[in-house]
Amino acid sequence: MFLTAQDTFYVGVNDHEIDLFEGIYKVPNGVAYNSYVIVDDKIAIMDAVDEHFGDEWIANIKEVLGDRQPDYLVIQHMEPDHSANALRFAQEYPSVKLVGNTKTFVMLGEYFGTDFADRRVVVADGEVLPLGRHDLHFIFAPMVHWPEVMVTYDSYTKTIFSADGFGKFGALDVDEPWDDEARRYYIGIVGKYGKQVEAALKKLSALEIDRICPLHGPVLEGDLSHYFNLYSTWAGYQPEIDGVMVAYASVYGHTKKAAETLVEELRAAGCNNVIIHDLARDDRSVCIADAFRYSKLAIAGITYNANLFPAVREFIENLTERNYQNRTVAFIENGTWAPVSAKLMQERFAKSNLTFARTVVRVRSALNDESRAQVKALAEELAK
Ligand code: FEO
Repeated sequence: MFLTAQDTFYVGVNDHEIDLFEGIYKVPNGVAYNSYVIVDDKIAIMDAVDEHFGDEWIANIKEVLGDRQPDYLVIQHMEPDHSANALRFAQEYPSVKLVGNTKTFVMLGEYFGTDFADRRVVVADGEVLPLGRHDLHFIFAPMVHWPEVMVTYDSYTKTIFSADGFGKFGALDVDEPWDDEARRYYIGIVGKYGKQVEAALKKLSALEIDRICPLHGPVLEGDLSHYFNLYSTWAGYQPEIDGVMVAYASVYGHTKKAAETLVEELRAAGCNNVIIHDLARDDRSVCIADAFRYSKLAIAGITYNANLFPAVREFIENLTERNYQNRTVAFIENGTWAPVSAKLMQERFAKSNLTFARTVVRVRSALNDESRAQVKALAEELAK
């Protein structure tokens, strides 16, 4: 257990057993479920952990507290990766009070069959819970990432306990850069809720913050502007890189060849920031995060059952359901007979605030001189 701030101890756990986070995201370096203890006249535990780690979590707490009894379990977020051990904890410490908002206790009732009517402290937005030297200020952050989410500001240590916000994939015993796994986590899980994240960031902007303690990933300290700037970019659906992501799905390699040719032509046209993804094989959450990272997206896909190829169809749905916007999108279609994929792709983006490239590449089965010229024209348009 380590000290994260004065009187504040980390008591979370690393999960290297998990195969898919939320049943969908690959996490090759695992994930951490963070929890913190604030030891003051009153003792508060900030959130619980995933169901598989109750023994380890409670042992961590006992290592810090010994025989002292905690007073409060603050539940900032009810998703089970954090709340699954709430009942177990309440049984372990029968005098502890559970701190949440009205929505928290409705969800507790749904998950555990009890809403802890005789043991609850229901807080309102802006309410303060004094522990002694430490005052916990509760700041509601609905839909970051569930409706009951609140974050907590400890004004004594200038620490924000940020719930899912500012989290990342990857266990804490793995040394890896923050940005890529934080982006994949944010875009995948919270990306749909940009407006709500902006509202939460606005509330936090009024605070003096020395430290961010999220529920996943490392404690963030020092110059926090890098993290706040990235969150502002992501929440505002702005790209990080002026460049092109080329995405394709190919059956016999001809559509892949067209996508690779576009990459070559983009580089020849002076565009140095180019990345290519195979939508059928590359990790989907990486493809989605990179689509949000780059300012332009070119999708190469075939017509399949008079529809889009499944990997392309799902990718576009993954983007639009996350409010993908403020970017330029281009299309390369391929078909041996009745090719309609460019039209179908554009239709699926119809409600998104996007600019579509004027050049549409039409491959009939395999690249020929005519479609190569279209690829070149598209590259020159996108490279401008
Ligand atoms: Fe880490 Fe939305 O739970």
